[in-house]
Amino acid sequence: MVQPIVDVSPPKWHLGHTTWFFEEFVLSKFYKGYKRFHDHYAYVFNSYYESVGKRVVRTDRGNLSRPCVEDIYKYRSYVTNHMNEFLNQTLTKEHTEIIEIGIHHEKQHQELLLTDIKYILGNNPLLPVYDIDAIDALVEPQNQEWIEVPEGIYKIGHSNEGFSYDNEKPQHKVYVEPYSISNKLVTNGEWLEFINDNGYNQVLLWHTEGWDWVQKNNICAPHYWFNENNQWKHYTLNGVQNIDPKAIVTHISYFEAFAFAQWCKKRVPTEFEWEIAAPNFNFGKRWEWTESAYLPYPNYQKPPGAIGEYNGKFMVNQKVLRGYSIATPDHHARLTYRNFFHAPLRWQFTGLRLAQSI
Ligand code: AVJ
Ligand code: FE
Repeated sequence: MVQPIVDVSPPKWHLGHTTWFFEEFVLSKFYKGYKRFHDHYAYVFNSYYESVGKRVVRTDRGNLSRPCVEDIYKYRSYVTNHMNEFLNQTLTKEHTEIIEIGIHHEKQHQELLLTDIKYILGNNPLLPVYDIDAIDALVEPQNQEWIEVPEGIYKIGHSNEGFSYDNEKPQHKVYVEPYSISNKLVTNGEWLEFINDNGYNQVLLWHTEGWDWVQKNNICAPHYWFNENNQWKHYTLNGVQNIDPKAIVTHISYFEAFAFAQWCKKRVPTEFEWEIAAPNFNFGKRWEWTESAYLPYPNYQKPPGAIGEYNGKFMVNQKVLRGYSIATPDHHARLTYRNFFHAPLRWQFTGLRLAQSI
């Protein structure tokens, strides 16, 4: 039930919330005669759907001493069994569409569950091992090359064949100036050069909000890094490791990504530059910050009802991240997938690919 910061939810809350999603939006709506497992679980496990009803405020998720984990697993079994019964009935397109969202929703929470567990353990003074077989640090095997892209008008967004979230649509055209984009992600070795060149103390590299964030929180390295006897180390899911200069830098905020790009006289790519070049990437399994604000695409249609609250209402004051991470379930993300977080957040597996104008 631990909730060390507001962004990190207790692991058991994820289990209850993803279960509630199916209970709320599938079973109680479409399965005749369905009786909810518990009258108050909607209050406990609704995340942010105003149109569904009141809920435990986000900051209080860590105070949920009940239901206990065992009860939440009972809730999951109950809902799974009823979903199995429901799936044996004749389903309409309306049914299958929301079930599909429920599955993708659960995959998003599988990633959050792991990143939240890492945050919880990585901020415990004992720095406990989560899984001795877990490999957080990935070596970047590629040498630096720059993929050149000519100016032009390019198609952006999802074609509507197969599943996508509403925020990836509609497909539309975007004009881009000529640019080049890195084949590889920024490494720890490159980040150490930034640190050693006093990057975190050079005010002119930073946005004002970024600089305030650095000052207030004494930021001097990516999250999970610490320096011991002149050796940089970091907490990983299999415990504390030395920083490998050849590995891809991870757990950086947008503020840091921007300052680093300023420092090496490059820039953070826009989400359009990213998407156009992405078929040529070997992915580094890090969410890649982009320069793009998380905005609706032209002619974006917010779905009616509660599902309209899923993505649309967050389209202010956040940055888009592209790609996927080592925590993302297989086949969840796409080249058009738009992840989004606020600029200072870095507990997800975030990284940086540089771009430059030509
Ligand atoms: C896309 C990862 C920002 O964390 O709120 C979970 C995913 N949406 N439940 C989030 C999500 C609804 C979302 N992010
Ligand atoms: Fe959710």
